[in-house]
Amino acid sequence: MLGIQVSPLEEFRYHSKEENLCLEFYIKRDDLIHPIVSGNKWRKLKYSIAKAEQNKNEAILTFGGALSNHLVATAAACKEVGLKSIGYVRGEELNEHSNPTLQQCAELGMELHFITREEYNLKNEKFYTDELHIEHPNVYIVPEGGANYYGIIGCSEIIGELPEDVSDIFVSAGTGTTAAGLLMGSRAHQTIHIVSALKGEWMEEEVKKLLMYSLFDEEAVDELMQRAHFIYDAHCGGYAKTNPELIEFIQKVYQQTGVKLDPVYTGKSMLWIKHNWKQCSPTGRLVFLHTGGVQGATFMQEKLAVNLYPES
Ligand SMILES: Cc1ncc(COP(=O)(O)O)c(C=O)c1O
Repeated sequence: MLGIQVSPLEEFRYHSKEENLCLEFYIKRDDLIHPIVSGNKWRKLKYSIAKAEQNKNEAILTFGGALSNHLVATAAACKEVGLKSIGYVRGEELNEHSNPTLQQCAELGMELHFITREEYNLKNEKFYTDELHIEHPNVYIVPEGGANYYGIIGCSEIIGELPEDVSDIFVSAGTGTTAAGLLMGSRAHQTIHIVSALKGEWMEEEVKKLLMYSLFDEEAVDELMQRAHFIYDAHCGGYAKTNPELIEFIQKVYQQTGVKLDPVYTGKSMLWIKHNWKQCSPTGRLVFLHTGGVQGATFMQEKLAVNLYPES
């Protein structure tokens, strides 16, 4: 099983004289867990890997887009524990040289299969995964983004690493798995602020589905969902879209605090906190969960033609 260390909880302080603003809260540094399998990737994968080892599977097979942090993390984690990794990638036009993410997957030993968007949409259908099991006997299949029961359980453990007086936790959401885990582990007095990285207002439905799938108890799920606050206006124009304000904020945060945020998830969530800081009134400690993604951000710098982490 992948080993895990307890990530530090640090004080975070960011100020802006021009805006007459000083953000002060705590940051749970899951980004420091591992250089590649960082943040929620480690949390979401560790029990799936343990399960594959227990089953004596020879590989983990999973899915992702062209810039998937999850694919790279799976490749790295599998390599570390001596499992093979197989990645099904959305886009038959791609290959292992298309971008640094796919290149790194290949370098880490991942066997890559490039499939059409139509085929990719079948990834959660039973008949399709049955076919994959025939094609690749003895693999353990992990859904896109590590969004399975084990992923939720892994993320639920974050709560136990936080002091009891934490009242508010901010988390970035893509599949909603990390958020579902936090809700599952949460204490009754806590609010989990779930910041969607995607345009559209369906994250609540996704998180509820993931919890139902894990708990099979509507009453318990409804109770947990009351601890959730969904934020839909942080996406800066859509998934992986950026704007100059976001880039400048990420740069300033790095220069002032040394914390690297990424432009797809954590940067947008923290920018939302900045915009809404005056309305944030936690009854206890406010914690920002750093879900990692910095290795993906390093690749994005090239595409964006900016240095996200300039020295001051
Ligand atoms: C850095 C980062 N933060 C947050 C998320 C969203 O996590 P989830 O898919 O569990 O909602 C991702 C994607 O997995 C990510 O790469």
